[in-house]
Amino acid sequence: MNKIPTRIGCMALLVLLFKLSFGQNIYTVNTKQVKANVPSTLWGLFFEDINRAADGGVYAEMVENRSFDFPKPMTDWTTWPKPNLRDGIFMVINQSSVNIANPKYMSVNLQAKDTVGLMNSGFDEGMAFKKIPYNLTLRYRQVVPGVHVRVFLFNSNNRVIGHSAMTLENAMDWHNQEISITPTDTAKTGKLLVILEGAGKLDVDRISLFPSDTWKGRPGGLRVDLVQKLADLHPGFLRFPGGCIVEGNQIVHRYQWKHTIGPLEDREMVQSIWADDVAERQTPDYMESFGLGFYEYFQLCEDIGAGPLPIINVGMSCQFDAAEVVPVNELEPYITDALDLVEFANGDVNTYWGKKRAELGHPAPFNMKLLGVGNENWGPQYAEHLKLFTDRIKAKYPEVKLVNATGYSRNIPVFNYMDSVLRARKADIIDEHFYDTPKWFMDNSNRYDSYDRSGPKIFVGEYAAQSDRIGSMKNKNNLLTALSEACFMTGIERNADVVSMASYAPLFAHVTGWQWTPNLIWFDNTSSYNTPNYYVQQLFSVNKGTKVVPLLASGKAVCGQDSCWASAVIDQGTHELVIKLVNMSQKPKAKSIKLTDASAAGIATITTLANSDTGIANSISQPDQIKPETMTLNEKGKAIYFIAKPYSLNVIRVKLTQ
Ligand code: AHR
Repeated sequence: MNKIPTRIGCMALLVLLFKLSFGQNIYTVNTKQVKANVPSTLWGLFFEDINRAADGGVYAEMVENRSFDFPKPMTDWTTWPKPNLRDGIFMVINQSSVNIANPKYMSVNLQAKDTVGLMNSGFDEGMAFKKIPYNLTLRYRQVVPGVHVRVFLFNSNNRVIGHSAMTLENAMDWHNQEISITPTDTAKTGKLLVILEGAGKLDVDRISLFPSDTWKGRPGGLRVDLVQKLADLHPGFLRFPGGCIVEGNQIVHRYQWKHTIGPLEDREMVQSIWADDVAERQTPDYMESFGLGFYEYFQLCEDIGAGPLPIINVGMSCQFDAAEVVPVNELEPYITDALDLVEFANGDVNTYWGKKRAELGHPAPFNMKLLGVGNENWGPQYAEHLKLFTDRIKAKYPEVKLVNATGYSRNIPVFNYMDSVLRARKADIIDEHFYDTPKWFMDNSNRYDSYDRSGPKIFVGEYAAQSDRIGSMKNKNNLLTALSEACFMTGIERNADVVSMASYAPLFAHVTGWQWTPNLIWFDNTSSYNTPNYYVQQLFSVNKGTKVVPLLASGKAVCGQDSCWASAVIDQGTHELVIKLVNMSQKPKAKSIKLTDASAAGIATITTLANSDTGIANSISQPDQIKPETMTLNEKGKAIYFIAKPYSLNVIRVKLTQ
């Protein structure tokens, strides 16, 4: 965030005028009257492989369909130099009867002087290259030695910008071999060509290409710029893997965590529910490779300091799609998967799944405290399944808090039914989802004021204001939506004794490969940008504080009076009062915060996300159209004065003397 020195002059004059004229704009804060502890989990993240978030996104693999296992095995591949090579040179072998996880491979049969190739142009617009090393991994076996391999990288004009040769080892069984190639130039929409020549027979199971600058330099890892954006949000938790992909459009496509760990060739690919779920944005080649699987997920949580919150399938497919339900007497493998996941995350290295985790490189437990049972599930079938899961999980792991679903929306019969069932059962945490208009978010900032303080905790598991309408492809991540979410978030913060977690959804979207909008972070193959909604999340998260204290206007919480929304916390670590104030009007608002039991020490800042045009948004070409700016304030004593710009979120941090 930019730090701008105080502009004495205009601003000071405005403040002076205000000091002479304020009256109705006084808020009082009692810093000693603690309403709630701010849970460390309050502001977190929802990750789902939608919009190319994982494959083609944060998972840095550049080759699409790297193992020829897509339903159409030549998807994203072309043979070189011509499409119609004579029969037998390239053959896709399907051995699904003996290897379900990794059924297909490419058999290459060359006679003397054959020079052929396999070309891949990556995800969406093509492969983006920087002038850094790239690691190509070939998984192959020599059937009849004699095939030689060369690798070429092309830029958008089909000019070679990098090449290398691989001397194959004498491996008669499946073997991974790597070479490094450093392009001499950059490319935005490049491609990869693997040339095969000579005489012999080679089976190729996987051709993979990763940049060397992955997050923490991990081979086969994650895109550094995108993970950094997550880390910069300082999330309290990371929900994973969704979202609807937990359920799948049919039960066979559900997310199965055990299929996502260990060697890549053991990770059975599934067609994403997002391949064809959105009529306007069909993405038939959307497969889940699970290269970002459950081990990588737990590792990511640890890296960015977020508590893990996995969501498991409850024996039901997506209720918007086929709505398949597994019979109750066949649920055992599903319940076992849930129990085993806890053991994989937390178990001692002497347990079966704890040992697996250790073998993957992490003997220490991942310290998972939360588990979601079902995504957007609802109805009596869900209630019945959930009971069976809950009883078994609680019996073995009473310390793990369970998150339970209430369907896809609030205050409708679906929601009300689940809410009453879950409250009667004294559920740990209830997950509520809100995709609605900016007005709804503004009008409902007081939603949790009346919730039962001794009932289940609330997880606002998915929410996002829609600038057009729910499900519209025209929704934009503009300032209006972001500020309306901020209004709602002041209500969450004020009610942090009831709401223990909240996450915006969805998290990521590729600018050409998306199926759903709005989203928190947009990216292409080279860069990414923060939306105003991202900045709102960040401003709340990095200014989360430790104790909620009352901020009142005429004795009432500030939820819309004078077009303002506000909340306050104390940060005990820094001994600061932290105020969030949203001004949803086109006029500046002069405000005074009266401290009833403390004094400002004269060191304060105001960080503002503001613009008079509420339609303003960022983009790949203009990533910084709107971003927060920080100014210092010199307020001292029993009152703090500031001016909230038109259409703004303001975070005011005030050092206290006592
Ligand atoms: O966030 C996008 C989708 O919205 C999620 O997958 C689902 O849980 C909800 O319906």
